[in-house]
Amino acid sequence: MFDLFRLTQQPQYTLMNIASLGTDLSGEVVALGDGASRFSVGDNVYAMVRFPKDLRTGNSAYAEYIRIDENELALKPTGVDHVQAAGAPMSLLTVWQFLIDLGHDEPNPFQSFRHEPVPLRGKTVLVNGAGGAVGHLAVQVAKWKGARVIAVASGKHESLLCDLGAEAFIDHTMTAAEDVAKHVDLVIDAVDGANMKRFLSVIKPGGALFLVNPMGFCGHEEAADLGITVSSTQVRSNGMQLAEAGRLLEDGTVRVVIDSTFALAQASDAHHRASRGSIQGKIVLIA
Ligand SMILES: NC(=O)c1ccc[n+]([C@@H]2O[C@H](COP(=O)([O-])OP(=O)(O)OC[C@H]3O[C@@H](n4cnc5c(N)ncnc54)[C@H](OP(=O)(O)O)[C@@H]3O)[C@@H](O)[C@H]2O)c1
Repeated sequence: MFDLFRLTQQPQYTLMNIASLGTDLSGEVVALGDGASRFSVGDNVYAMVRFPKDLRTGNSAYAEYIRIDENELALKPTGVDHVQAAGAPMSLLTVWQFLIDLGHDEPNPFQSFRHEPVPLRGKTVLVNGAGGAVGHLAVQVAKWKGARVIAVASGKHESLLCDLGAEAFIDHTMTAAEDVAKHVDLVIDAVDGANMKRFLSVIKPGGALFLVNPMGFCGHEEAADLGITVSSTQVRSNGMQLAEAGRLLEDGTVRVVIDSTFALAQASDAHHRASRGSIQGKIVLIA
């Protein structure tokens, strides 16, 4: 922690970490570092910590107290509790940076060109993996921007996803989405890039395929022939964007669904839950 302060030379905060998951946290500021000016002791804040991380310092939010760069923090939306806020940062920033605003000009580890969000108003957007952490927020943000959303997930998520704004639902355990979806403007895949070439046939020429996990994707040539843009990016910590996206949590436009909560001391149980898959929303540890 001391190294982080010297490395970044940024104002730091020490938080009492009330609820956290992996890189994400929500808690209360309990002390200020030298030069810290944007927040005060007692502020309730949330953040994605140091991601992509500096390997020398680590970024674990599995802690009761943590030092954090003030540029990564935003005030917690007052309309949600610490559990919901702790569930938001990485998934919400991922959706924001894919669909709304990349927010930085850092090199993209997945491709040579900058990821560019596409206009969504009046468009048809298919979200694959729509019941998961990234997926359920992608459904809501695309809907908020005026898209018609098709959600692809296992059947247990259907009523939730329709409630969150999906206009159509495909149960991937019963039907291959590419057999029934057609003329889609954008597919955002929040499952597994390796298997995503099959989605090219549902996208219109001029449309786009956004791969949240692009590893193993092998359809670049076919996509180029079809006039489809394939793009990905790596999420980055960004307090300003969390503040902006937080307004959607504040007014209830976007809801963070909590799959389950565990005490910090039971973190291994949380990992067992995660390894069983079919997660609906987020898992949160409470410190
Ligand atoms: N680029 C980045 O910076 C970035 C940031 C965050 C996450 N990611 C990556 O994005 C992916 C998703 O992350 P996440 O946190 O949202 O994961 P998650 O919470 O585990 O969600 C994945 C969802 O996919 C569903 N699913 C599994 N197989 C499916 C299939 N064949 N078809 C449709 N849905 C299927 C699962 O539930 P059901 O099977 O019950 O539907 C689950 O709800 C991961 O690979 C993660 O590493 C990348």
